[in-house]
Amino acid sequence: NNRVKISQLLTWEPAQQEVTVMGWVRTFRNNQFIALNDGSTNTNLQVVVELGKFDEALLKRITTSAALKIRGVVIPSLGKGQKLEVKADSIEILGDSDPEKYPLQPKKHSLEFLRDIAHLRFRTNTFASVFRIRHSLAFAVHKFFHERGFLYLHTPIVTASDAEGAGEMFRVTTLPFDNPPRNEDGSINFKEDFFGRSTNLTVSGQLEGELGATALGEIYTFGPTFRAENSNTTRHLAEFWMIEPEMAFCDLEDNMNLAEAFIKYIIRYAMEHNKEDIEFLASRLAEEEKQLPADKRSEMGLVEKLEFVVNNDFERITYTEAIDILLQSTPYKKKKFQYEVKWGVDMQSEHERYLVEKHFKKPVIVTNYPKEFKAFYMRLNDDNKTVAAMDILAPGIGEIVGGSQREERLSVLEARMKEMNIPAEELWWYLDTRRFGTVPHAGFGLGFERMVQFVTGMGNIRDVIAFPRAPKTAEF
Ligand code: 4AD
Ligand code: MG
Repeated sequence: NNRVKISQLLTWEPAQQEVTVMGWVRTFRNNQFIALNDGSTNTNLQVVVELGKFDEALLKRITTSAALKIRGVVIPSLGKGQKLEVKADSIEILGDSDPEKYPLQPKKHSLEFLRDIAHLRFRTNTFASVFRIRHSLAFAVHKFFHERGFLYLHTPIVTASDAEGAGEMFRVTTLPFDNPPRNEDGSINFKEDFFGRSTNLTVSGQLEGELGATALGEIYTFGPTFRAENSNTTRHLAEFWMIEPEMAFCDLEDNMNLAEAFIKYIIRYAMEHNKEDIEFLASRLAEEEKQLPADKRSEMGLVEKLEFVVNNDFERITYTEAIDILLQSTPYKKKKFQYEVKWGVDMQSEHERYLVEKHFKKPVIVTNYPKEFKAFYMRLNDDNKTVAAMDILAPGIGEIVGGSQREERLSVLEARMKEMNIPAEELWWYLDTRRFGTVPHAGFGLGFERMVQFVTGMGNIRDVIAFPRAPKTAEF
């Protein structure tokens, strides 16, 4: 068929061309004006139905969300807000939609309501914009790394390793639940499993990514990752997508530079290719913020914020400096923080938010955290107390990137693993990279949904992934 997409059609001059368009009815006004949407843009196409030209029976079936195929002529529009419209010559109903049963009304629904009917929420302007932007960001991720010569490495979803050593894994097994084979001591004998090992869904592709980088040079992964953390927050999912570049011959400084360039690049890409969608979400957000008390409103609109981020350097500070700033801060002095601020204790989101939203008012890269609460693979600094870690904190989001220079010295790594009770015999394959031609290398992980949240301004992470997996989410 020679169907034209509405986004494309709307860029034409209204010069009497014949077209075929297909889409879903958003509204049908006065038995005369169909607002048609096909998912390519939030701007509906106005289709004009001449009085008396079509059967009453057909017109009755033009209800909200009915699917139509329309042939007609592109003409100048007299109505305001649009340059052209299509005058219908033929209307075919591809699929009816019972208006009594269709749950979406042509009005604004709350995000909570839409989360409950997540299977239909793509049909709203808000979600259509979010998912078009999400697509662009994903495409820009590949474009960025491809242009820089990184290879896209597909790391496993089912794995025997716990890359973060945090024990937040979903177990995967083929053993029968009711009567699994047992060892003599009564524990489950995973050796009889399909993999002959206890396996789980991956929490990160990093360890396998390091295998790739220490031979191929520069790789990145972009895949689903799983964390069995029961955190019911607006920033956590049990299944989320992560982008993890890993670079040989690279230190913490190079790592920071890459992460900053990467974030700016993909935001810029979306700003160029999804201008209309970002502006739509920006005005939606501005409307919502009007309901808030003045001191809770953002200082910048969404578009302004994104422009600011791509045009300014991120702040770079050490963990030690961050703690000093917090100890000097007004909320600390007025005992407004809920959690303790102390060198050696991890920062909580209230502290991170203070740093990025109140103190620096821009993204901040925090480096060199105490080793105690960071992963085993991070490179130990000369002070023996901190590791070459970096977290990037973004306004309104908090931690968006976690990364580090990796411990490339075998003996230091083995000692760290012992300290942290990470079984070296299970990670023998990982340690081989340190045995055979070890090199300084570094990488990071960007939480893709948090990035989509940042660009779309959506407050809840469940609203930027099509099928959220989190405590109490929908059933499909
Ligand atoms: O800081 P994390 O745990 O780091 C890693 O997994 C490293 N292996 C990355 C690396 O160095 N290759 O996670 C990285 C990012 C976080 O900064 C956050 O943006 C996101 O992943 N993230 C989550 N996003 C949504 N829901 C969750 N439960 C998340 N946990 C982490
Ligand atoms: Mg982290």
